[in-house]
Amino acid sequence: MNVLGIDIGGSGIKGAPVDTKTGDLVEERHRIPTPQPSTPDAVAEVVQQIVKHFSWKGPIGITFPGVIINGEVRTAANVDRSWVGVDGRALFGKKTHVLNDADAAGIAEMAFGAGQGHQGVVLLLTFGTGIGSALFTGGKLVPNTEFGHIEIRGKDAEARASDQARSEKELSWGNWADRVEEYLLQMERLLSPNLIIIGGGVSKKTKKFLPDVEINTPILPAMLLNEAGIVGAALAATEH
Ligand code: BGC
Repeated sequence: MNVLGIDIGGSGIKGAPVDTKTGDLVEERHRIPTPQPSTPDAVAEVVQQIVKHFSWKGPIGITFPGVIINGEVRTAANVDRSWVGVDGRALFGKKTHVLNDADAAGIAEMAFGAGQGHQGVVLLLTFGTGIGSALFTGGKLVPNTEFGHIEIRGKDAEARASDQARSEKELSWGNWADRVEEYLLQMERLLSPNLIIIGGGVSKKTKKFLPDVEINTPILPAMLLNEAGIVGAALAATEH
């Protein structure tokens, strides 16, 4: 079955039709910069442009960088605050299914990437504008975990250890690795996972920092790179 997957991010909104059996994109990805301010109406307009670009009439899965409960946006840490309380189906249309962006990336990695076939406790963390999390056990997702917002040294973890924090504070990869290690040690203490998967933009650059991160849990870079959100959104939509 082909489903249109759309990934709403802080800088870009990307979409492509996905073959949900193989996880392959069946057409080239289409990307439009995220409008600023990223209000619901402005983002919905861009989503419609992506739907039109593919002349799409079928089901659509959409990721959002916040807590989503029964299709309703509950938090908006890195996008316009006016999203809180918005109902995904009312905004994007009846054929859409909205879910958290990190949950979508996790679903894709468990199906086709670094977590494939893993039955233990798997924690996927995305390092980008914020830190997103997706937790699995027996291959099943515990949605909306929001582990990017645990407190480290009195601060929101993502304010210290996201990829955005690295670039804003002009941290060297080594200094950033120390912060990531401190964060991962805390996650290890809390969850005792069998595997941690590092996703988000930095998943292509893990050679620059993972050698300096020492924890007991095995760590793998995500394999689907910047397609994970699109693929996971499409997969999640088939289940609804
Ligand atoms: C949000 C999460 C999101 C993550 C990655 C965090 O700030 O609270 O919902 O998954 O950023 O985008």
